[in-house]
Amino acid sequence: MTVNNGQQRLIVRIAVAAVVAVLLTLTACNAAGGGSAEAAGQSVREFNLVARSDVLNVGDRVTFEGFTFNGTMPGPQKVVQQGETVKITVENVDSVAHGLSMHAANAQTSNYLGNIEPGETATLTFEAEYPGVYMYHCAPGGHGIMAHTMGGQFGMFVVEPSQTYQLEQDLGREPDIKIYIVQHEVYKDGRDFFDGNAQYVMFNGETFRYVKDPIPARPGDYIRFYYLNVGPNLTSTFHAVGGIWDYIYYGGNPNNLMQGTQSVVSGPTDSYVIEWQVPGEGPFTLVSHAFGTQAIKGALGIIQSEPDAPRVAEVRSEGLSSSPVEDPKRHVAPFGLGSEDLDKPVRYRPGEEPYIEMVGNSFTPKRIEVAPGTTVTWINEDVFDMLEGELTGKHDAVMVSGDGDDHFATPLLDHAESYTHTFTEPGTYEYICSIHPYMRGTVTVYEDTDLTARSDPQSDGLQADGLQETILASAAP
Ligand code: CU
Ligand code: CU
Ligand code: CU
Repeated sequence: MTVNNGQQRLIVRIAVAAVVAVLLTLTACNAAGGGSAEAAGQSVREFNLVARSDVLNVGDRVTFEGFTFNGTMPGPQKVVQQGETVKITVENVDSVAHGLSMHAANAQTSNYLGNIEPGETATLTFEAEYPGVYMYHCAPGGHGIMAHTMGGQFGMFVVEPSQTYQLEQDLGREPDIKIYIVQHEVYKDGRDFFDGNAQYVMFNGETFRYVKDPIPARPGDYIRFYYLNVGPNLTSTFHAVGGIWDYIYYGGNPNNLMQGTQSVVSGPTDSYVIEWQVPGEGPFTLVSHAFGTQAIKGALGIIQSEPDAPRVAEVRSEGLSSSPVEDPKRHVAPFGLGSEDLDKPVRYRPGEEPYIEMVGNSFTPKRIEVAPGTTVTWINEDVFDMLEGELTGKHDAVMVSGDGDDHFATPLLDHAESYTHTFTEPGTYEYICSIHPYMRGTVTVYEDTDLTARSDPQSDGLQADGLQETILASAAP
């Protein structure tokens, strides 16, 4: 075989390139080795949370309109090891401010993640110092912290301990199933939020989620629960019907050990790790034993224990995705306008003077119907009126659309301040709060002639005679 000059040069180049490539690879390997040696003991776990407005599927053809992290309620579940360094980046893609409070950090996280303006990104790096089951939630600041947490922005953050939990020591093996449960409430409006009158109570974003889809297990299985009551209001008592919890750790810290209890009591943001060996064949019903305020409203699930049950390694706490719901039967919108079966139009007789509360970043009642000449009062019942913008509980009511000629705008109201407007022109008017534009309400001014349709006592509880008198009185000069 003969080789010409051009081919010789090519071969030399290939050889040189090969040697250089090998050297670069070795250098890279050395660098990677050195790097990992440096990083030993301080590996960084990175997570991204995206804050946004959302409409969610909460199961059973019910939709929920609020705020989320990454499009689910509860938001993403994160698990790290004690001692790891955690880097959390929060990106706000919404048109209002958001933020983050991370309870797993023994640091003032609001210095880093409080009040992130629309379009901005912020980062917090912390060491996962204490093991346990933690809550995170939105924290733009002030009144907004409470409102956004109620509105859907929360999730579970787990720091697995360096030491071994007791049942794992007793049995000499890891859990057969890890079940992560976030209990949380859903409210139809801000008044109910203030009063703790939950519309639904959920495990992991859906009422009766694990009744519809029971968790399979086998007799003798070692289950480890990571249970967090997000609230935001109610105190729960987590219990398994037919079982006694073997080992219980308040907050999930292995040093906080209790044994043999029927339930665990959890105020908002309280949490536990619970270890339990399934005592036989099921079903075992998981329940908040606050029956009337919680279990019957959805905080109930089933562990179906059978010898040949399929194997499930973990049940995660993220809610359902925001995929569109076909033919929804109900829309829950704590700040905006939900479906009319929830946010019922309230109709007032001529001469009655409606009060609309601004409370929990919503108008209550959200929909009213009044006669021409009616004076409507807006009163701000939010108390936390410090700070400005999204952070505050100050509100106004500003008309944004309407098919009548009654334009109105209240001034910005502090706590317990009110403002009135007298409606004269029939039509339907939609209004918002200018600094919390997701707050929505409507005023419908009905025609005088509509009153005759109201003489049916079934429809509104009024006596026809009394109504006619009122009409006559209002018609008098
Ligand atoms: Cu938020
Ligand atoms: Cu908090
Ligand atoms: Cu407002």
